[in-house]
Amino acid sequence: MNRHCGGILWLTGLSGAGKSTLARELERVLRARGWQAFVLDGDALRTGLNADLGFSPQDRAENIRRSGEVAGLFAQAGIIAICAFISPYRADRDRVRAAHAAAFHEIHVSAPLEVCEARDPKGLYRRARSGEIAQFTGISAPYEPPLAPELEIPSGRWPLERCVVQLARYTERRFALAVAA
Ligand SMILES: Nc1ncnc2c1ncn2[C@@H]1O[C@H](COP(=O)(O)OP(=O)(O)OP(=O)(O)O)[C@@H](O)[C@H]1O
Ligand SMILES: [Mg+2]
Repeated sequence: MNRHCGGILWLTGLSGAGKSTLARELERVLRARGWQAFVLDGDALRTGLNADLGFSPQDRAENIRRSGEVAGLFAQAGIIAICAFISPYRADRDRVRAAHAAAFHEIHVSAPLEVCEARDPKGLYRRARSGEIAQFTGISAPYEPPLAPELEIPSGRWPLERCVVQLARYTERRFALAVAA
């Protein structure tokens, strides 16, 4: 029906790297082509499904586990779930990969900490530096970059448009199905 398969595009990276921005742009591009795509954003899920969780390593693990399960359901429904979660721990991401095997595509949205901190679109780095926010990824909590992601998008060096084009090309290559006319 969709001419593409379902799956999980898992965008991981520092706060301010551009995960949400890229996810929304990719969703727009795919929908314009008639594809079924849906953004699952860490911020949105943390206000609802994961509202009971904080930012300790244990809570982050549970946040990612639940979010991965939801993404997996979208993938089974034939939809491309575009996931925008910092997901700083390699082990947490690897558990999502293990649970969803072939459907899981890890995309490292990669920008240096200095660039993210200069952007600071939500003012979070400033608050983390002043000590107002504890356990902030990159400042007072670790970020473990992927060792072998399916794709790396250098969002610190490339303009947004180039990042979107590369992500859309990758998605087209990996998800399109040949459908007999
Ligand atoms: N090449 C780029 N790709 C993505 N975003 C970019 C790029 N260049 C500049 N930006 C800007 O960087 C900011 C990225 O913010 P965004 O909210 O998307 O980050 P995020 O990774 O979702 O952070 P968080 O984890 O806090 O939700 C936006 O203001 C965006 O306009
Ligand atoms: Mg975001």
